[in-house]
Amino acid sequence: MKIFLDTADIEEIRIVARWGVLDGVTTNPTLFAKTSGATYEEVLKEICTITSGPVSAEVVAEEVEGMLKEGRAFAKIAPNIVVKVPMSEEGLEAMSRFAEEGIKTNCTLIFTANQGLLAAKAGASLLSPFVGRLDDINQDGMIVIRELAEIVAIHELDTEVLAASIRNPLHMTQAALAGAHVATLPFKVLQQMVHHPLTDKGIVQFRSDWDKARKALAASNGKASAGAAKAPAAAKSGS
Ligand code: G3P
Repeated sequence: MKIFLDTADIEEIRIVARWGVLDGVTTNPTLFAKTSGATYEEVLKEICTITSGPVSAEVVAEEVEGMLKEGRAFAKIAPNIVVKVPMSEEGLEAMSRFAEEGIKTNCTLIFTANQGLLAAKAGASLLSPFVGRLDDINQDGMIVIRELAEIVAIHELDTEVLAASIRNPLHMTQAALAGAHVATLPFKVLQQMVHHPLTDKGIVQFRSDWDKARKALAASNGKASAGAAKAPAAAKSGS
């Protein structure tokens, strides 16, 4: 399963790229609003210098021509830009037009398998069901991931299921088991995936045992060399 970072924070993206686990990035207007000092286009450009994987850039227009205008401008930023389009009647039309133009799209705000199926037929290369937001309203978001992954496999659709709105490490495991091709997650959740109390405790313990062993060795070597230094003196006094 590919891992995308769901953020517009350049520093977080750099860190995860250094870890060697970054396959792409997803952004949206809410994530961009958390950054400061640069335009959305500048942020996207910078992200595309860090990763050559897909970088999703979301349109905010609600009518087809507006979506097309924004998406075409995003697509010019870098070859790995994927235009994120919301699921709607206009969004379907825009996605099918983008597909004709060879511009890749990520259909966002998917909450049912049917919506995902329509987006796939319109030509979206990524389908983004929002797991956490379904959980928020007491529905099992993972069901949509499982259903869509199965539909894509059965009908050999040329698209990928991207589990979005991932809120915790358990969501990641469940998305992987449900057959998601990709999951996008916040930096915090990725950090949570790295750590386990027993791992962290084990690292501290190994370090401390290592230090003790080296001190003990240094002490015994010190005694031995002190003994060796004394020996000739004793021999001299005895002659
Ligand atoms: O990838 C979509 C994501 O940014 C939405 O997450 O936590 O706001 O539902 P959330």
